[in-house]
Amino acid sequence: MKVSVIGTGYVGLVSGVSLADIGHDVTCIDINERKVSLMSKGKSPFYEPGLEPLMKKNIVSGRLHFTTEIQKGLLNADIVIIAVGTPMKDDGSADISQIKQVSLQIAESIVKDTIIIIKSTVPVGTNELIRDIIFSNLSHNVEFSVVSNPEFLREGSAVYDTYHGDRIIIGSDNYRVAECVATMYKPLGMNILITDIRSAEMIKYASNAFLATKISFINEISNLCERLGANIEEVALGMGTDKRIGHEFLNAGIGYGGSCFPKDTNALVQVSDQVGYNFELLKGVIRVNQRQQKLLLHKLKHRFGSLKGKRIAVLGLSFKPNTDDMREAASIIITDKLIEQGAEVVVYDPKAMKNAVQWLNPKVNYGISIKETIRETDIALILTEWDVFKELDLSIFVELMNSPIVFDGRNCFTLDEAMEAGIEYHSVGRPVINNNIIPDRLVKLAESYV
Ligand code: UDX
Repeated sequence: MKVSVIGTGYVGLVSGVSLADIGHDVTCIDINERKVSLMSKGKSPFYEPGLEPLMKKNIVSGRLHFTTEIQKGLLNADIVIIAVGTPMKDDGSADISQIKQVSLQIAESIVKDTIIIIKSTVPVGTNELIRDIIFSNLSHNVEFSVVSNPEFLREGSAVYDTYHGDRIIIGSDNYRVAECVATMYKPLGMNILITDIRSAEMIKYASNAFLATKISFINEISNLCERLGANIEEVALGMGTDKRIGHEFLNAGIGYGGSCFPKDTNALVQVSDQVGYNFELLKGVIRVNQRQQKLLLHKLKHRFGSLKGKRIAVLGLSFKPNTDDMREAASIIITDKLIEQGAEVVVYDPKAMKNAVQWLNPKVNYGISIKETIRETDIALILTEWDVFKELDLSIFVELMNSPIVFDGRNCFTLDEAMEAGIEYHSVGRPVINNNIIPDRLVKLAESYV
């Protein structure tokens, strides 16, 4: 099929490249000339494992093209996929202005019958709105159909997810059109679920809200574990073994970030409020996450009182590993508060350093390697669970730091490893390893006996 994709963020570019890879003739359209020129050479504007080799392969095979000219890009397309951004507005709602703008351009450009897929995450009802906009602005006498086809890719494993996802959702009011979209995806061999349009739009929000709920729930339990002397990892293992709960998304930490969960949970709350429904649970999920992102700051205050003059190393800046995406990353608020409290902060991330400069406080210093970042620091924080951190020999903290005190927001190490290395180790939902001898929990218990 001839497919045009408008918008080359994570969703648009990964979808376009993978559709080319399964045999379609794909044109990716973006208004950003610098990005288009980069992508035409097989370079991705963002870091995503496995994406560039796939781009290069399909450019060479002649199935993948890039352009800034929307009219040219839409020429003869059987299917047009809209994958532009729907950023969060100040009130938490989704900003769909880019989609509206693109819809007008589509209406003016299509010269044959076309299926228009909305892949961007949009509030329930938006597909119908877009259908009306296109209908009232058509330049030619053509038939078109708007289909909701939300995306479930995870950054950092988006290419893998494209080929191994759990389902493809196609929301349409026309079964023949839905079948045609299903045919486009058929080579991926995934489960396909055809629904009505509004349900498809809701599935995306409900899925992200549920996953965010799972994370905030396990974080609440982990905070309780800390107070009651239990270990969150054992608790999560015990819970996850129940098939109805499952092991995934039960990793306690310093909360969720990224381009989807914060934006989509807020948008769903907004939409609920608009229809007069108070989505209490989701509001709580959001509040818990905001608090959780600051967890290490509370732990530092409890341990040190003042941070003035402390030299603090921060390992990990991106909102999760295997991406250079800094959107809603906990590192932003944490480094900002550390500087506000008079600490000297030096940061390191394997991939996100370049992006981080735009997001972090200008007073932050950038390390050139893990070792140089922690050298002669008083405290080290781990904010993202990159493999290079998880594989560290913990003795380097003892050798290089002024005092080997580590606050790990992602539970990268076992308590035994920390104990053996002789570091003071504070993690999430687990006892503190202190002075290489007594877990804090035991001290607390002993105190309560006195
Ligand atoms: C998410 C959804 O998974 C995906 O289906 C949707 O299309 C987009 O949003 P993504 O934001 O790329 O994908 O990352 P994900 O792996 O889901 O993680 C989101 C955040 O939750 C990260 O900050 C991660 O650190 C955090 N997280 C995840 C936890 O804190 N604990 C967990 O157990 C899992």
